[in-house]
Amino acid sequence: MRFINSKQNFDGEFTFHGDKSITHRAIMLNGVARGVAILKNPSLGEDCLTTCRAMEKLGAKIEKTVDGLKITGALTLNDNQELDCGNSATTLRLLTGLLAGFGVNAKLYGDKSLSNRPMERVAEPLRVLGAKIQTTNAKSPVFVEKSRIIGGEIALKVPSAQVKSAILLAGLGGDKETVVTEEVPTRDHTERMLEVMGAKIIRSNGKISISKSELRATDMEVPADISSASYFMALGALKGRALCKNLCVNSTRTGILKAFDKFGVQYSVLNKRIVCGEEVADILVKKSILSPVRITKTEVPSMIDELPLIAMLCSFAKGESVISGAQELKYKECDRILATAELINSLGGVCIPTTDGFIVEGFGGLDGGAVGSYGDHRIAMTGAIALLASKNGGELYGDKYCAISFPDFFEKLGV
Ligand code: S3P
Repeated sequence: MRFINSKQNFDGEFTFHGDKSITHRAIMLNGVARGVAILKNPSLGEDCLTTCRAMEKLGAKIEKTVDGLKITGALTLNDNQELDCGNSATTLRLLTGLLAGFGVNAKLYGDKSLSNRPMERVAEPLRVLGAKIQTTNAKSPVFVEKSRIIGGEIALKVPSAQVKSAILLAGLGGDKETVVTEEVPTRDHTERMLEVMGAKIIRSNGKISISKSELRATDMEVPADISSASYFMALGALKGRALCKNLCVNSTRTGILKAFDKFGVQYSVLNKRIVCGEEVADILVKKSILSPVRITKTEVPSMIDELPLIAMLCSFAKGESVISGAQELKYKECDRILATAELINSLGGVCIPTTDGFIVEGFGGLDGGAVGSYGDHRIAMTGAIALLASKNGGELYGDKYCAISFPDFFEKLGV
């Protein structure tokens, strides 16, 4: 437990670890590429370390350097491995696709939270491509059996970058072409990285085609994680000012800025540039008076991980906000619809959980009190920001879960 006092003022310039989604992919893809790659500014939170350990078991060589990782790829993977994916669905789902494409046997499993998350969404499309995959009551452990990927066409049933990526990674080993289509764009870091690393991949209007390819190891500087920065940007909007540097502003990830537009948060995007195939910029956020918002289905994927924070911010507006089309939140590290509603309500706010989101009655702030984390890093960090911005502060239980994605979260916040 950690006691968090409310802050009257927040003003600072921040840099962050690399984006978690990009880091997972850079470790996996360089882990099976020809050659050696240097990864600068990776995320070294628990989730990405889990991916490192799994890739090492599969045969990649991964060494820590002063400012990142040195990865030597394995061109064939060790067979019959049991891979502990910890709390990380990205590790488990993407590796399921990658291993199917490499035609090895493996068991993939995780902690209590991960063991409760749906896995048929990945297994089912992979079977269509020719993979032999077994789930356990539609969840994990997941068993990948040596098989041949034939290829085929898949239309995504859920807007999930993890599912899309698993299909593309399996397609890397396919006899014929694999084509994925998605209705609503989800984060496209896998596609961008595959392009940069020399895969045979073609993208147009929500359709991605990939054919058997060998990847070339590629040095990368991972842009900072906008999902981690969003907590600092939110506190800047409520309590002063935050300049967050070198953020990945790929449009599939900047839903938080669309939400800021709706809230009326004052921010500027500065110094835009391209680094390793990803758009990068600095974002300056200034203290603002928030208006209530409406967020709907098509906007959800680009802000999926920020929605607990966005719902919490709705309590700082005056009036009713509605977030809908976000049922995917139920299948995250915890049921984030229930956990977020409980967090807001226990701090003196009013949030009604719905089947696909939230209705939040905002009164221009939160009082404070005691909040739990549900073993979920994003709920823990949302709770911390809520307490810092609240009138009285209070207790945050499960503060240790922040380390899943952001080990130095409290240090950077100065809490
Ligand atoms: C991720 C995709 C999203 C996101 C998760 C990371 C990724 O999950 O919530 O934190 O790296 O591909 P879904 O694919 O389940 O939407």
